[in-house]
Amino acid sequence: MLAVDNIYAGDCIELMESGQVPQADLIFADPPFNIGYKYDVYEDRKAYEDYYAWTERWMAACRQTLKPTGSFWIAIGDEYAAEVKIIGDRLGLHLRNWVIWHYTFGQNTKSKFARSHTHLLYWTRDPKSFTFNDISVRIPSARQTTYADKRANPEGKLPDDVWSFSRVCGTFNERVKWHPCQMPERLIDRIVKVSSRPGDLVYDPFSGSGTTVVVAARLGRRYLGIDLSEDYVHHSRQRLADTLAGKRKGTEIAEDPASRRAARAVKGRGNRKGNPRTGQMDQLPWA
Ligand SMILES: C[S@@+](CC[C@H](N)C(=O)[O-])C[C@H]1O[C@@H](n2cnc3c(N)ncnc32)[C@H](O)[C@@H]1O
Repeated sequence: MLAVDNIYAGDCIELMESGQVPQADLIFADPPFNIGYKYDVYEDRKAYEDYYAWTERWMAACRQTLKPTGSFWIAIGDEYAAEVKIIGDRLGLHLRNWVIWHYTFGQNTKSKFARSHTHLLYWTRDPKSFTFNDISVRIPSARQTTYADKRANPEGKLPDDVWSFSRVCGTFNERVKWHPCQMPERLIDRIVKVSSRPGDLVYDPFSGSGTTVVVAARLGRRYLGIDLSEDYVHHSRQRLADTLAGKRKGTEIAEDPASRRAARAVKGRGNRKGNPRTGQMDQLPWA
């Protein structure tokens, strides 16, 4: 059995199927999307049937690796979102949300609309028994930021199912130079906070640059990451060590002007401290 609080090089399917991965409270999986991305080891251009069969296999292995009360989040592009949904249904998983991650960093197109989203399918193993820490991911409501409404809940509101976070641009402190498709820490932060508790095990079978592991460690969760590439594992272990040693700079507030404006508006109205019982508003990523 692999020891937790580490990142390993290997094939996640083989490791899960051979029973070497401990059961997790939260699995976040961001597999290659089969769109020809340039990874160092993995070939991201498979025939449809091969990619489908591969997806079925790793999703089934993840389901087996999930605790009965566990949550399973999958990031996937337009090309295979429908297939992932069908496979999840067939595995008996319970879809709780189909979240759209909308990113603000746009490309220029001439003959069709630019793609600016990724799908985040959120499943649980059990329809009723799972972790959902709503208080930890609340955001300022329009009553607070726009209408200065005294009836506003000082704890804010739950985000809707369209999430706007910037992609990790090349100029961001957060950006690593050695992985082609790094997820933003802010996005993973929300998922880890809402779907796990401190001390829970967070597992990422396609850990890449190590974003999930780094965020989980920072939030006091146990963590386990696997990636096919020895090079990515070597670098992400360093990223993790630097994070734990406090050497890496976090995401700058300046990288997300919309959140910064909302934070300022709430602060101006004296609500920033949020609920005196929980102090949760102060723990929001932009606070
Ligand atoms: C989309 S990237 C993950 C990026 C990651 N979420 C991050 O924030 O950096 C997909 C990763 O899956 C890895 N991979 C592909 N096949 C794998 C397998 N069978 N087992 C483990 N990792 C694999 C690739 O090397 C690549 O780093």
